[in-house]
Amino acid sequence: MKPKIIFATGNAGKLREIKEILSDTGMEILSMKEAGIHADIVEDGTTFEENAYIKAETIARALAADGAEYGGAVVLADDSGLEIDYLHKEPGVYSARYMGADTPYDVKCRNLIERLEGVPDEKRTARFVCAIAAVMPDGETFATHGTIEGKIDHEEKGDNGFGYDPIFYVPEYGCTMAQLTEEQKNRISHRGRALEAMKEELKKRMSEYYEDTDRQ
Ligand code: IMP
Repeated sequence: MKPKIIFATGNAGKLREIKEILSDTGMEILSMKEAGIHADIVEDGTTFEENAYIKAETIARALAADGAEYGGAVVLADDSGLEIDYLHKEPGVYSARYMGADTPYDVKCRNLIERLEGVPDEKRTARFVCAIAAVMPDGETFATHGTIEGKIDHEEKGDNGFGYDPIFYVPEYGCTMAQLTEEQKNRISHRGRALEAMKEELKKRMSEYYEDTDRQ
């Protein structure tokens, strides 16, 4: 049987990205919905890592309560956001809830640009941060991280991506994250990097896990 990964996200775009990056692990990747799990998760952590653990552990508990069907699955969850240095790392863990969860991103982006009015380029440094937490079938937990450094642009540019991508200038490419193709973004993004690190850890730990269970 193919080992399974259940990824705690309801976001279809993220799931596509995750399936693409983890496709060569030989593991089957399911969303919470595909695994039939519904859980109310209160993300009240103060760091990205804490929130990722809260999500992964809540889902792992729901799976355990649900019986044996997904008993051997690895549960993964991520948390991510934008840190702007000049704004003391705002919006940070509140990135999704900044100005209200239902406020459109063009409004949120414009607000951040306004708050940086007159701030010179060298002080507009920012980064996207991502933490991914894993709960292994034996209950062991660990996390991986990824970041991408950039600057907050003076205006919104580009139509790709989502969230704060149109105002995040990527020096390496000389354009905003929203002007990159999905493939370019995945290669350099905070989530792409944290996922690559998670993939390496999983390959290592899963082979040990299956060697152990084969021996039993
Ligand atoms: P979460 O990880 O789903 O909780 O997302 C946190 C929030 O951070 C998102 O709703 C976006 O506002 C922001 N964010 C995270 N990753 C990205 C990205 O790749 N581009 C733009 N915004 C992002």
